[in-house]
Amino acid sequence: MIVGISGSPRKKATEYVLREALRILEAQGFQTKFFTVRGKEIKPCQHCDYCLKHKVCRIEDDMQELYGMLKNARGIVMATPVYNGGVSAQIKAVMDRCRALVAADYDFFRGKAGMAIAVGGDRIGGQELAIQQIITFYILNGVIPVSGGSFGANLGATFWSKDTLEGVKEDEEGFRSLRKTVKRFASTLKMLEGDEMAEEKKKKKRVAWGITGSGDRLPETVEVMKKIRRQYPDVEIAVYLSKAGEQVIKYYKLMNDLKENFGAARVEIDANTPFLAGQVQVGRYEFLLIAPATSNTVAKISMGIADSLLSNAAIMALKAFVPVYIMPSDYKEGEVITKLPDGRDLRLRVRKEDVEHVRKIATMDGVFILEKPEDIHGVFKKHFG
Ligand SMILES: Cc1cc2nc3c(=O)[nH]c(=O)nc-3n(C[C@H](O)[C@H](O)[C@H](O)COP(=O)(O)O)c2cc1C
Repeated sequence: MIVGISGSPRKKATEYVLREALRILEAQGFQTKFFTVRGKEIKPCQHCDYCLKHKVCRIEDDMQELYGMLKNARGIVMATPVYNGGVSAQIKAVMDRCRALVAADYDFFRGKAGMAIAVGGDRIGGQELAIQQIITFYILNGVIPVSGGSFGANLGATFWSKDTLEGVKEDEEGFRSLRKTVKRFASTLKMLEGDEMAEEKKKKKRVAWGITGSGDRLPETVEVMKKIRRQYPDVEIAVYLSKAGEQVIKYYKLMNDLKENFGAARVEIDANTPFLAGQVQVGRYEFLLIAPATSNTVAKISMGIADSLLSNAAIMALKAFVPVYIMPSDYKEGEVITKLPDGRDLRLRVRKEDVEHVRKIATMDGVFILEKPEDIHGVFKKHFG
């Protein structure tokens, strides 16, 4: 779907030429949606940073409608009247308010295509500067900017309205620039569609691996995961550490090992930071693996307490039908001997209560319990062959 955004407060030239762009795209089989700032309330960004923390904009105005539309957009056509040699304040507010979308998902705009239209009252009144502003917004946010190319549509579609609707309708040169730009925009969208399908396949080859604060079988798990990494080079394994997980990884001097093999590990700040639960929920990861999982994390999942990064991610994953594989450190009642980083043995009691939690999560739809690190091989085989 392609979203056309008109930045004019009037139902005049800008709206007219944008609708024409969308009409051409519809004729080529694209689905389009039209949005205008006309008659809407879109306040300027307050830079309150609420979105950085809460992943949504707290200003309840008409921008909320556009947020929803942009979510499903593969392409954006931004059209602005030229005001003082640049974009209108209204379209600038739209651009700035998009910060909330990027705060929630850094790659929100990445891979979408964008084209620009500028309508000035003068023949040379700043149309190209206005388009530059739109293109800069695109580049900053990862939107692929598309122009109509040289010989008439260098940066995009430019119109001379003479300040009236009738004036813009007479601007044959402007419509030529529009048709050229829309043509290249449509072909870029088709190209991206092919890439998108390839990307879609790739997307499924991402796995989130959570490590909690248990030293028991931790080095063995890391070794198994390193083997898997080599065996499945096209599967991206993203490592997430609980707060205690980070401490234990450091205690066992495994941080560098993780970094070298899986890239920088993301460390828990709170239940939603880093933004794992949301990513799991939208299907970014094929599955979530928590290995080793402490009795604390297992108990939280068992009781539905989502107040830590990995328990929250697991509960969200289950709600979104994303499988969760858990290797509990306390699997069977009795005693276990675990190795400390200095090689000494540590005798631990596995409590009945902890084993009961393992039994409980084992009955949950979408949870799969792994007994030992080697079982992780089977998980990757099942998902990636
Ligand atoms: C505040 C303001 C500033 C303007 N500045 C420019 C300008 O710098 N260059 C220009 O060519 N036209 C300028 N115009 C004229 C508009 O770009 C022109 O009338 C255009 O058609 C308005 O779009 P609309 O018909 O969709 O409302 C300005 C208009 C307003 C209201």
